[in-house]
Amino acid sequence: MILEIKDLMKSFPKKKGEMVAIADFDLDVEEGEFVCILGPSGCGKTTILRIIAGLESQTRGRILLNGKEISGPGSDRGMVFQEFALFPWRTVRRNVEFGLELKGVPPEERRERTQKFIELVGLNGFEDYHPYQLSGGMKQRVGIARALANEPAILLMDEPFGALDAQTRNLMQKELLRIWSETRKTVIFITHSVDEALFLADRIVVMTARPSEIGQIYEIKWPRPRDRASPEFAALRKQILEQLESMVKIEE
Ligand SMILES: Nc1ncnc2c1ncn2[C@@H]1O[C@H](COP(=O)(O)OP(=O)(O)OP(=O)(O)O)[C@@H](O)[C@H]1O
Ligand SMILES: [Mg+2]
Repeated sequence: MILEIKDLMKSFPKKKGEMVAIADFDLDVEEGEFVCILGPSGCGKTTILRIIAGLESQTRGRILLNGKEISGPGSDRGMVFQEFALFPWRTVRRNVEFGLELKGVPPEERRERTQKFIELVGLNGFEDYHPYQLSGGMKQRVGIARALANEPAILLMDEPFGALDAQTRNLMQKELLRIWSETRKTVIFITHSVDEALFLADRIVVMTARPSEIGQIYEIKWPRPRDRASPEFAALRKQILEQLESMVKIEE
């Protein structure tokens, strides 16, 4: 197991008392696994990812990465956000280099390592472009290269393709699978799209509404690339969509 999440609970203070966002979340993730998390808006998906990233602390529970308890941010976790979160004043290369700069990797080695990931995401030739000169799909490629350049043990992705048009999104899903199979990284991927989860995941974790917990876990054993038009794809899509609807609880 590369990642073990045990009895995770998270509440936020509110004017009177507290709001329980995540009631109970338990998950073990194997090295190299591609896990998608689905759930209604506001159920705590981003919060879970931020806790794994060490950007937020849990109220209760433990998270172990390679057997070691997470106690803050670290370069062993790479984060890719929906809103790209690139530095607008930096070029593609300098965006991707950022983490290595922080680590104090010398410029020449930095450049070499960065170039590898720029090529991996298919952005060679665009090294000196600024984010405003890139399309949404290209920006997200920069985000992925930046996360990978740190050589993290695990890649945390929060609706990374949510802002893309349908065609670019499908292309980026294929690209991500290619990158995943080349790097064999462990991926935790949050999405609102059942279709996306079925196309990508080894396992799909469906969360309930707040106070949320895991409603169901689906193992998807189909070979890749998967055919979205196949009857079994459509049948499981329907089943998960129905499940998501049935999980919406009445808020207290
Ligand atoms: N820093 C915070 N302070 C107070 N409440 C917060 C904070 N961060 C998140 N929340 C609350 O916790 C709940 C879960 O938020 P979170 O962003 O994790 O949901 P989500 O599942 O990612 O939703 P979405 O699908 O819309 O992105 C929400 O009710 C949100 O208002
Ligand atoms: Mg979110």
